[in-house]
Amino acid sequence: MAIKNVMVIGAGQMGSGIAQVCAQSGYTVFLNDLSADQIERGLKGIKKNLGRAVEKGKLEADAMEETLSRISASTSLEDAAEVDLVIEAAVENIAVKADIFRKLDKIAPAHAILATNTSSLPITEIAAETDRPEKVIGMHFMNPVPVMKLVEIIRGLATADEVYKEIEEMTRVLNKVPVEVNDFPGFVSNRILMPMINEAIYTLYEGVASKEAIDDVMKLGMNHPMGPLTLADFIGLDTCLYIMETLYEGFGDSKYRPCPLLRKYVKAGWLGKKSGRGFYEYQ
Ligand code: CAA
Ligand code: NAD
Repeated sequence: MAIKNVMVIGAGQMGSGIAQVCAQSGYTVFLNDLSADQIERGLKGIKKNLGRAVEKGKLEADAMEETLSRISASTSLEDAAEVDLVIEAAVENIAVKADIFRKLDKIAPAHAILATNTSSLPITEIAAETDRPEKVIGMHFMNPVPVMKLVEIIRGLATADEVYKEIEEMTRVLNKVPVEVNDFPGFVSNRILMPMINEAIYTLYEGVASKEAIDDVMKLGMNHPMGPLTLADFIGLDTCLYIMETLYEGFGDSKYRPCPLLRKYVKAGWLGKKSGRGFYEYQ
């Protein structure tokens, strides 16, 4: 089966990035979200990214228009009836994802692959919501999607080899590098990254240093492109908390307990860059 038509669910920072790279590689894309406003916000981000590339002389203006013409807005999951692949990038919540996959299973054609961009949740559990667990797979892009090369590919217990190969091949078409990992909480990326971010938050919580000092130590001392608190704001503090909860629950080990300060910020609606305030403030 050749994948041609794709639906991306969730037009947030990840979904819009995924839609952009798929359209740039020639796939037609439905960008789905709950409301037209949310899709418009996602499309605005895509236009800004492509516009910047045109200004820098890295992309022809015609290619930008062609890319944009491949993306259609969708507020109905029924549009999945026309696609070969769905990549779900809605919020990191098992109930939301389970509901989406149950519905998709009834709407998408029998041949369609259902992928999730989950950061940490079990692919096997999401697949079990469908009658096609062999066609369900994790396709975990990194943020910002147009820039980062990695896609972690995660098989659920029942994922078919052909499905793995199709997704691996498509990842290369998107000019990304596939890395296969097994289905354990947080996979590899967030099993390692998120406890570091959580520890940075504890360091702030316990008054060991200021937020700027913590970020400077990791930037200047370890050559990280962003300090951990800036990175947490960039990822979204809600997403960071959901990932820590998945690790904590999945491994039953207190070393993964989310820092109370992270919980407090999320409860306050301080979600990081996307809400205008997290550890830092944004315009
Ligand atoms: N969207 C699209 N493109 C972006 C971008 C964004 N948000 N931010 C930067 N870019 C592009 C710029 O346009 C520029 O492109 P060109 O080279 O073509 O000109 C390039 O990236 C470099 O940008 P800048 O020079 O402005 O900035 P920088 O050198 O500081 O790089 C960065 C920005 C790539 C974001 C860098 O700071 C970085 O790598 N940060 C760490 C990112 C990271 O760790 N991501 C993983 C997060 S964890 C995850 O994704 C998994 C999960 O499940 C939570
Ligand atoms: P986000 O908050 O920026 O966007 C989520 C979008 O999903 C919102 O626009 C929301 O309206 C939409 N949504 C929620 N429920 C929906 C539904 N039922 N149907 C359609 N759309 C729905 O979040 P994000 O950072 O883009 O993260 C999305 C997913 O990608 C999460 O599973 C997250 O763990 C994962 N992820 C995030 C990052 C990151 O750095 N932020 C990196 C890799 C993977």
